[in-house]
Amino acid sequence: MTISNIEDLRQQARRKLPRMFFDYLDGGSFSERTLARNTDDFDQFTLEQRVLVDLSSRSLATDFFGARYSMPAMLAPVGFAGSFWPDGEIRAAEAAREAGIPMCLSTFSINSIEEVGAVMPHGLAMQLYVFKNRDLASGIIERAWKVGVRTLFLTADTNVSSVRERDTRNGFRTSSSLKLRTVLDVLSRPAWCWRMGLHGRLLLGNVKDQADMPRDLMSQAAYLSANVDPSMNWSDLAWLRREWPGKLVVKGILSIDDAGRALDDGVDGICVSNHGGRQLDGARSSISVLPEIARFVAGRAEVLLDSGVRRGSHIVKAIGLGADAVLLGRAYAYGLGASGRKGVSQAIELLRNETSLTLALMGMCSISELRANRASVRELEAVRNELVIASRSTV
Ligand code: FNR
Ligand code: LAC
Repeated sequence: MTISNIEDLRQQARRKLPRMFFDYLDGGSFSERTLARNTDDFDQFTLEQRVLVDLSSRSLATDFFGARYSMPAMLAPVGFAGSFWPDGEIRAAEAAREAGIPMCLSTFSINSIEEVGAVMPHGLAMQLYVFKNRDLASGIIERAWKVGVRTLFLTADTNVSSVRERDTRNGFRTSSSLKLRTVLDVLSRPAWCWRMGLHGRLLLGNVKDQADMPRDLMSQAAYLSANVDPSMNWSDLAWLRREWPGKLVVKGILSIDDAGRALDDGVDGICVSNHGGRQLDGARSSISVLPEIARFVAGRAEVLLDSGVRRGSHIVKAIGLGADAVLLGRAYAYGLGASGRKGVSQAIELLRNETSLTLALMGMCSISELRANRASVRELEAVRNELVIASRSTV
């Protein structure tokens, strides 16, 4: 099958993964309205076409988190990625390293921080969930620092786990035992069973050795969902700021008030995100909130965006609207489910090519030019209003 875009990788992942894992990867909360809006709302913005510009020398290289990367993108934390492909987090890290972009590892990864750190000694960030048992969080931070992680993402939008009805139907994260339907479904993907049987491990590498941790993936998934601390609040962010000597990013910001609070607490980065439509169904899309947050932050911290990025034009729009970089979630995870490291590389290179071409057709050769020409990304509504005003004044 020819893979020409992220949707093709999604279709391939759908065919290869047992339904329980594909649904977990693909799904969102409740009616999945925010999930849909995240991608659809990129269409509210238009790009300015410019012509007759010398495009012979182009580059997407850019700086964020104090280092230079080959494009303004990184891999988002995706829990259970090692259930899509054996050693999924290691394979994703290899692809990211080769592509010259960073990656953020999930607390809920199958490969451990140490295993992934060995593959990516520079550019690995760590995502933190804070558990009722605070020793778990402290241990993860310590281990992350030891393997060279210098950027920590605190995920702030998941104090309570939302309902994802596809997961409920499959019993994933809600039950510690497999339903018959799920067993039959897993068996209907023999190639996945074969790969996982030969090389896979289905235990959460960062937490599996905790004394009270159950011993199989279904139970661990259910245990973790129930043990993220619902009392986590701003004082914990302040605590983390004192504990963590590296860069601190708060992930899940969709309101200016929350962005202001995070800035007061001294964060280095704000990740505009609704968790890929997996938490508050009905929340605004990330891209629609980005312009106001970027204006408010005004360079006091780095601004990242995730949720809904499936095209290079989405990356261009996010950067044009004030993001320093985007996080790729499902976009790369579909690639991982489709064909492991190769699929992640394909996802990154498809997006790189689309971004580069989009920029070129806008008459630009670099990310810094895009940043200097923010007016080239405009809200469709504003453009329409101007047209109406212009036509009135000529009457
Ligand atoms: C996630 N996300 C996530 N976020 C996080 O902070 N910790 C985690 O463990 C996970 N796990 C996870 C699993 C899966 C399967 C998905 C799809 C997502 C959210 C992720 O980091 C990111 O915010 C979204 O994926 C962005 O939306 P898109 O790009 O997937 O639309
Ligand atoms: C998710 C959790 C792990 O989105 O963050 O599935």
